Amino acid sequence: MGVDLAVVPVAGRGTRLLPLTKSQPKEMLPVGEKPVVQYVAEELEQSGIRRLAFVTGPGKTAIENHFDIDSELILSLRENGQEPLLETLEYERMKVEYIYTRQRRQLGLGHAILSARSVVMEQPFVVALGDSIIGVHAQSKVVKQMIDLFEQCRADAVIAFEEVPKEEVSQYGIATVGKEQGNYFELADLVEKPDVAESPSRLAVAARYVFRAELFEYLEDTATGKGNEIQLTDAISAWIRAGGNVLGIPLADGEQRFDIGNYPSYFKAFFEFASQDPKYGESFMEYVRRQMV
Ligand code: G1P
Repeated sequence: MGVDLAVVPVAGRGTRLLPLTKSQPKEMLPVGEKPVVQYVAEELEQSGIRRLAFVTGPGKTAIENHFDIDSELILSLRENGQEPLLETLEYERMKVEYIYTRQRRQLGLGHAILSARSVVMEQPFVVALGDSIIGVHAQSKVVKQMIDLFEQCRADAVIAFEEVPKEEVSQYGIATVGKEQGNYFELADLVEKPDVAESPSRLAVAARYVFRAELFEYLEDTATGKGNEIQLTDAISAWIRAGGNVLGIPLADGEQRFDIGNYPSYFKAFFEFASQDPKYGESFMEYVRRQMV
């Protein structure tokens, strides 16, 4: 059976986006016409994922509400002659099953994924961070490519990477590149948020992973690391040291990652999606150009 399950961690507090995130999840912040997490779900559905397991936490119920089928709203739009708006709710009909599980303590990304163990059990699975969009309008095929590579190479893990400016390496998991093999490479190591001076490269983990379930064994043995959190990166690094076959795949040209975890990157994402909006993009850009002169 192919990989059809994705774990989507959405439990983080989003402290870098306060006060926006005080009473709403960062995954529900608008980017153009949709909230972040809707792009993530749509991207995964297009990549063949049929079960989405969200790892939630306090204050995240808006995410569950967003993916419910809201019959009352549908009825009232119909009754009030607002049928054209029904199109905006099409995503409710995606052919995916939603599973929600909780991370009961805020102990980091590695711990959040460990909280989904009883959902995943023994099967291989995708991890897609719920605060990052790949490519504009969720058209990215990267997860599909990652699953194909994972199956072809019988890999233990496949991770997406994006080259970032030197100043940004301290915000991400960074790769030490091993043997290069055409459009992918073997990972010799992975380090979480290194200092610029010590960074092994500028290749940053781009929020999408495919794993064998053996990952959980490494996560269980991972002590708290950077930021006093159980880091997914540290578990992957231990797996590589134990001989795990972990592969990296760079995002294709034009498949930029939008990280909705900090303001500079969130602003860029909103601008990009607003400017490429099929309906309002052109007039928005006219406005922007007028402001520039
Ligand atoms: C997490 C991971 C980091 C990865 C990043 C990708 O960091 O720990 O390795 O590069 O997501 O988006 P966070 O954004 O949770 O600090």
